[in-house]
Amino acid sequence: MSGIKIRGTGRCVPQHIVTNDDMAKIVETNDEWITTRTGIRHRHHCTGGENHTYLCTQAAKSALEKAGIRPEDIGACIVATLTADELVPAAACTLQRELGLPEDTLCFDLNAACTGFLFGLHTMECLLAASPRKYGLVLGAEVLSRILNWQDRGTCILFGDGAGAAVVEWRQEWPSIGAVLGTRGDNELLRVAGVETGEHSYIQMDGTKVFKFAVETVPHCMDQVLSKAGMTAADVDFFVFHQANARIIDLAVRKYHIPPEKYYKNIEEYGNTSAASIPLVLSELQDLGKIHSGSRVLVVGFGGGLTWGGALIEFA
Ligand code: COA
Repeated sequence: MSGIKIRGTGRCVPQHIVTNDDMAKIVETNDEWITTRTGIRHRHHCTGGENHTYLCTQAAKSALEKAGIRPEDIGACIVATLTADELVPAAACTLQRELGLPEDTLCFDLNAACTGFLFGLHTMECLLAASPRKYGLVLGAEVLSRILNWQDRGTCILFGDGAGAAVVEWRQEWPSIGAVLGTRGDNELLRVAGVETGEHSYIQMDGTKVFKFAVETVPHCMDQVLSKAGMTAADVDFFVFHQANARIIDLAVRKYHIPPEKYYKNIEEYGNTSAASIPLVLSELQDLGKIHSGSRVLVVGFGGGLTWGGALIEFA
């Protein structure tokens, strides 16, 4: 035994909403195509003074407040992201300054693309076991609007900005979240160029191949999590899926006969927010009262890297 539970969640999305009709003014597309192929109607993009630091700070403050935990109680802070305002300092160090986290709080960023929040939770569970302070802050945050190719209708319509945060607590007597995580080095399916290449840092993606990868990976992760926990899908109180495409979620829902009251989609409002996607869902669910103390939540994600993973998360 020994593991983490979520104490409180928070989120922040930019105010500016970009509709499918707005996208149709930029690339050759239309509301009907985007809605039926992806389930997306809106996405939120940073404007004015909004940036990655702003989204992270608001989301983290809200999670701390809901958890009733002070910044000085935090032992580690991980920001899962691929779009921090600066490469150095890490977004987690900037957040440390904004929140007034102690200097011995271990703060760092983690890039596992859309699976980043799950990688962050697992890493935090390991870190807190060795930390003198047993509360951790895990964020998934992205400003993907800064790395979109506005001439590529196959990608620019999909992504949005946002941040989600969770304050977690570690206890010896709690079960582990039982994370199952995987990676496969591949830059053919999904790629964002880095400093070495001199290219613009745009999201480049083979959508059809990523779709195929996703529909195989999601059930694979779910089966692994359930088998590790000795549970069946019927034992799970709620299912949280990475919000990449409503059709990918619908396929999993059908395969596992998940009733409507046991899963949630917010892709219609935010599009794919990569690492922020899962914590945005968790935060909305907590506010809606759909998940609460004792709920066993199966979370599953996949993304560039390639990366994938699942875990069974409980709220304290
Ligand atoms: N508007 C209108 N038409 C579009 C379009 C758009 N925004 N984007 C692509 N098309 C066109 C294509 O050009 C193609 O036209 P053609 O048949 O004349 O060549 C047609 O629509 C079909 O394209 P295709 O890419 O096969 O569509 P799709 O059904 O696979 O849907 C995605 C495309 C991107 C929505 C889908 O593949 C997807 O969601 N993939 C997974 C992406 C993902 O999850 N990425 C994140 C991973 S974390």
